[in-house]
Amino acid sequence: LDNGLARTPPMGWLSWERFRCNTDCKNDPEHCISEQLYKRQADLMVSEGYRDVGYEYVNIDDCWPAMERDKDGRLVADPVRFPSGIKALSRYMHSKGLKLGIYEDFGSKTCAGYPGSEFYMQIDANTFAEWEVDSLKFDGCNSDPKDMPVGYPIMEFFLNKTGRPILYSCEWPLYEFAKKIPVVGYPIMGKFLNMTGRQILFNCQWPGYLVGIGVEPNYAAIRSSCNQWRNYVDVQDNWDKVIQIIDHYGDDKGNFSAFAGPGGWNDPDMSDYRTIAKTCNIWRNYVDVTDSWDSIVDIINMYGKDEGNFSAAAGPGGFNDPDMLVVGDYGLSYYQQKAQFGMWALFAAPLMMSNDLSSISAEAKALLQNKNIIAINQDPLGNQAIRLFEVPGSLSVWVKKMASGGSAIGILNVNNQGTPQKYTTAFSDLGFTNKKGYVVKEAFENKTMGKYALDQAFTIYVDPTSIFIMIANPL
Ligand code: GLA
Repeated sequence: LDNGLARTPPMGWLSWERFRCNTDCKNDPEHCISEQLYKRQADLMVSEGYRDVGYEYVNIDDCWPAMERDKDGRLVADPVRFPSGIKALSRYMHSKGLKLGIYEDFGSKTCAGYPGSEFYMQIDANTFAEWEVDSLKFDGCNSDPKDMPVGYPIMEFFLNKTGRPILYSCEWPLYEFAKKIPVVGYPIMGKFLNMTGRQILFNCQWPGYLVGIGVEPNYAAIRSSCNQWRNYVDVQDNWDKVIQIIDHYGDDKGNFSAFAGPGGWNDPDMSDYRTIAKTCNIWRNYVDVTDSWDSIVDIINMYGKDEGNFSAAAGPGGFNDPDMLVVGDYGLSYYQQKAQFGMWALFAAPLMMSNDLSSISAEAKALLQNKNIIAINQDPLGNQAIRLFEVPGSLSVWVKKMASGGSAIGILNVNNQGTPQKYTTAFSDLGFTNKKGYVVKEAFENKTMGKYALDQAFTIYVDPTSIFIMIANPL
C-alpha cells in the first residue's frame, strides 16, 4: 500500500501469541489484556534497548473493547482494563518514541467475540484516527470471505480519508485462500505419489466431502494437488440424480469451471496478492503461529512453496506476514529461536515480538537485538527470500536479494538428529554468476569467512533445528 508506511518491514510487539485473551485482571493483573500490560512492555522496549534497534509498534490484539458500542455506535475500550482510554495509551506510546497499534475485525464479531467492524467501518476508522492510533490489524473472523475483495479496500479508503497515517495489517489472504479448507492430507498423498517417480493419475474426492459438509472448496489448492476431483454427490442410475448433478455444475459455485484446463499448477493467487498489496501494508496469509517448532516449520514450508508466487508481492510498502516472533517464549530452544528469527529476517517479514519482555532470557534478548540480522530484514530492497531447494526433513537453501547487489543466504536445518549437518557447496551451484567470485561473512556474529571463487567448494555446518546465514557480496 502506497501510503508512505512500511517502506521496510514494520518492527514491534504484539500481544496475541503470548497473552491471548486473558481478561482476568482480578486474579492475574500482571498478564491480563489491559493498559498496564502495554505500558509495561513499552517501558521495557525503551529501557532494554529494543526501541533503539528498530522495534517501534506496540500493538493491541483482540479482547480490548467493551462488549457494547456506545449510543453513537462508537467502540469503547473495556472501562475496567483500559480506564484511561486508548487515546491516553497512544499518547503514552508517542511520548516514548513508540507507536500504538489496535485490532479490529472485518466481520460482525472479532475472533474472540467482541464487536466487529461490519457496518461500522467508517465510524471505526474515524475513531482510531481520533485516538491517534498508528496501526490497525484487521482480522477476518465471522465474515464471508467473498466480501473481502470489496470490504478490505473499503476500510483502506476510510483509513486513508482520516488523513492520519495508519499502517494497515490485513488478514484477508488468510481467510480468502488458506482458511477455506484444511490443506493437509490430499497434498501429502499427491507428494508421495510424485515421489515414487511413477506417473499416477491422482483422482481426489476432496471437494466432494467439503461440499457435503457445506464448506466451499478452494479449487486453486485442489488443482495444484490433483489431476481430477469429484466435487459433488455420488452418481446413481436414476434421472433425478443426474439432474441434481447437472444443476450443481450449472450453479458453478465458486466458479469451479474456471479451474478446469490442461496440465500444470494453477496460478490463481498472484492477481489477488497484487490487489492485496495495493490495499494493505502487511498481510497474514497463513494460520496462526503457536509457541512450537512444528508451527515454525509448518509456516516456513508454506513460504517455501510460495504458491501463486506470493513472494513477488513483497516490497517497500507491503509485506507478507508469517505471523509473530515467539522468540523469548516457552516453546523453542535457543537454536530454534535463531532459526525463526533468521528465517523471518530473510522473509522480509514484519518483526512483531509476542513475548513478555519482563521475563525474557539474555540469549533471546541478544538474538532479537542482533543488528546484523535486523539489517537483513530491514534491507531497503524489501526482497523476500525464496527457497532455492530443499531436502525434505533436512537442509533447505534460501536466498534474499539485498540492495547492495549482494545476497543473504540462509541454510536451514530442520533435522533434529543431534549433530550439525555438513553442507558443501559453491556459489556456481547456488546459481550465482559473478565471475570474480564473492566475499562472504557469517551473519549472526558478523564473522569474515573469506573470499571464494565462483566454482570454489566450501563447507559449513548447520546446527540441528537451526540456521546458518551468510552474506555474500560480489567481488
Ligand atoms: C485470529 C488471528 C490471530 C489473533 C486472534 C484473536 O486467530 O489470526 O492473530 O488476532 O484471531 O482472536
